[in-house]
Amino acid sequence: MSALEAPLIVASNRGPVTFEPDDSGELSPHRGSGGLVTALVGALQASRGLWVAAAMSEGDREVVARDGRGLVDMEDYGSPYRVRYLDIPPATYDAYYNQVSNGILWFVHHYLWDTVRSPSFDDDTGRAWDAYVDVNRTFAQALADEGDQQRSQPAYLIQDYHLSLVPRFLRELRPDALIAHFSHTSFAGATYLRTLPGTIREGIIRGLLGADVLGFHSQAWAENFMMSARLLQGVRADLARSRILVEGREVLVRIHPISIDATPMRQAAATPEVRELRNQLNRWRGNNRLIVRVDRFELTKNIARGFRAFELFLRRHPDWRDRVRFLALLSPSRTEVPEYRAYAEECLAEADRVNGEFGHEGWQPIEVRVKDDYEGAIAAYGLYDVLMVNPIYDGMNLVAMEGPILNRRHGILVLSRNAGAYWRLGRYAVAVNPFDLGEMADAIATALEMPADERARRARGLSRLVLSNPPQRWVGAQLDDLERMRLRRVGVQAR
Ligand code: G6P
Repeated sequence: MSALEAPLIVASNRGPVTFEPDDSGELSPHRGSGGLVTALVGALQASRGLWVAAAMSEGDREVVARDGRGLVDMEDYGSPYRVRYLDIPPATYDAYYNQVSNGILWFVHHYLWDTVRSPSFDDDTGRAWDAYVDVNRTFAQALADEGDQQRSQPAYLIQDYHLSLVPRFLRELRPDALIAHFSHTSFAGATYLRTLPGTIREGIIRGLLGADVLGFHSQAWAENFMMSARLLQGVRADLARSRILVEGREVLVRIHPISIDATPMRQAAATPEVRELRNQLNRWRGNNRLIVRVDRFELTKNIARGFRAFELFLRRHPDWRDRVRFLALLSPSRTEVPEYRAYAEECLAEADRVNGEFGHEGWQPIEVRVKDDYEGAIAAYGLYDVLMVNPIYDGMNLVAMEGPILNRRHGILVLSRNAGAYWRLGRYAVAVNPFDLGEMADAIATALEMPADERARRARGLSRLVLSNPPQRWVGAQLDDLERMRLRRVGVQAR
């Protein structure tokens, strides 16, 4: 996969598996879906590596209690890699995960605040930030300890905004460590980032700069990061060469868009269960054309505006009433954060309102299904005429990739220009400004009325682009970057 031969250690807040009791009460691992887990587990298996994550379920905590150190050999479950769970006290975890990671950093990177009213940072923010620092230190210490157990110097692959400070803390503990950090979110522009208290803003930038390589899914996020970093004292950003010089070290800033693993999804699409779900959906849609969205029930996904855009489309195009339905498959997410609960209610109310206004006995325009339903999503991907992906901002968005490789109707992708995926797939999608209801309504009409040969051309283009970039390539590219940095360091020392 890469010339780098170092043992691999991955770190992320959410681990690749969570332990839940099965029917007999025995704890067994449930693997997360998605390209990230597939790609990284693949790389770990190849190097018999280790994944360090926070214990999130009761089952994970029980696993920690069994071994003391929280180490699980996945060999026992048929996979040659190990997971180590960190058991963080619940109050500290709540402040780190709900308050800071999801309540502040997620909001800033996706521009989610209605700034007339929020945010207001106070002493409670300071306490929550201390907890975030603590948890990041705990991760860094665990990574340093685990690195010491390896036969040779490991390569660390640290994931996402929960662990922004880990590169720096780990660098303090092990100055020679080979560290990559990858941001899966968008990264806020310099002006908006200044919403944050200085300690937090500077903390996350300097925290990230502890790495050798910083990865982003798109050029826009990488540039935003560099523009903020260069404002800090002692930091020099070399924009032309995509690198930053800080404390006598070089930090590479790289763009590596992740993609999805088509094979398991296609296998899932061919199972009798999914076939039956497709049949059910087909009966449900009747003669209607079908608009589908598949999302976490998440603020960034712009679900309510999506319904309003559909409403506007029905107003502007009365001839489409009774002929098209909108199916929203939403999996519950982060229900601990109050804004998420309020937003979920708002979206459901919007759907009811549109149904109340346009629906009648034989036709209900919007159907919302709220549950974790991987099979249901796979079935719906097969059948859509239009796939609505209209996030406010999104680091990448894998739904925009999953749909096109499973769809059987040359369905059209309506895609927000603010999704990282737009940079890769935009030319075959119908692009929208996610704040412009009129443009989204027009996009739905354009998609539904597009001639068959144009639909086919776009569908083929999307599949080709997605399949040409398997997730293994995403990991491989990061390891190549680290290898480059390792060689440069050896070169410097030898001179
Ligand atoms: C985004 C983040 C991931 C996170 C996922 C689910 O994709 O980039 O790091 O794991 O959302 O969110 P959750 O809070 O449930 O882990």
